[in-house]
Amino acid sequence: MLLRPTTIAHRPLLTLALAASASLRLSSPQIATGSFALAAQQHNHNQQSPLQLSPSSPHIRNYSMGSNASTASNFPKGKSDTEWRAQLSPEQFRVLRQKGTEPGFTGKYDSHYPKKGVYTCAGCDSPLYTADLKFKSGCGWPAFFDAVPGAIDRHVDRTFGMKRTEITCKACGGHLGHVFEGEGFNNPTDERHCVNSISLNFSEDDKKA
Ligand SMILES: *[C@@H]1O[C@H](CO)[C@@H](O)[C@H](O)[C@H]1NC(C)=O
Ligand SMILES: *[C@@H]1O[C@H](CO)[C@@H](O)[C@H](O)[C@H]1NC(C)=O
Ligand SMILES: *[C@@H]1O[C@H](CO)[C@@H](O)[C@H](O)[C@H]1NC(C)=O
Ligand SMILES: [Zn+2]
Repeated sequence: MLLRPTTIAHRPLLTLALAASASLRLSSPQIATGSFALAAQQHNHNQQSPLQLSPSSPHIRNYSMGSNASTASNFPKGKSDTEWRAQLSPEQFRVLRQKGTEPGFTGKYDSHYPKKGVYTCAGCDSPLYTADLKFKSGCGWPAFFDAVPGAIDRHVDRTFGMKRTEITCKACGGHLGHVFEGEGFNNPTDERHCVNSISLNFSEDDKKA
């Protein structure tokens, strides 16, 4: 058992996380809104995309392509991109439906620590995280150490030259963020669910969960 002071153990990891998010911020707007949209247009009638980000995962491939048919029918609360665009703000659509990332330290739930309540999916209102699962990570996005049982899906994400675990809403497929494991945060699971504020909505009503 290594007994290192946690503040020291955190520092290199946080630096790494911040560096990763900084590079994400630089590249994601172009990739999320530019290349994907362009590729989707150019390969509208073609199942194979040159931007296949995760060949081993048909789910992620279809999702990245923004395929109306697959996103609408593969989830209990799925909708077509047209319907999502009508319901969500442009920034919510970019993050939830095109796997974008909001800038760090800007989201409304980053420094939000209610005593009780439920964070629901901003797309379909499914309960995803409860207030007691949230912790202070200092990383610039809401952080949770666990989710409401059965509420989220995990996928391998190999974009941006990293191997990360993407998390999505099980009910509607909306992109939430990523899970990082083994960072040494003093919480029960040693996980950090790094979730975009804009993918969430908060309700003080505990009964929702
Ligand atoms: C994704 O598309 C491929 C090719 O059209 C299909 O075989 C596969 O079942 C789809 N995956 C999902 C999760 O719908
Ligand atoms: C897109 O999704 C909507 C809602 O599920 C559906 O009514 C529509 O037929 C779909 N369009 C295509 C081209 O698959
Ligand atoms: C967000 O949560 C509040 C409180 O539960 C609710 O009144 C509101 O309708 C929700 N907004 C969306 C977009 O689901
Ligand atoms: Zn959802």
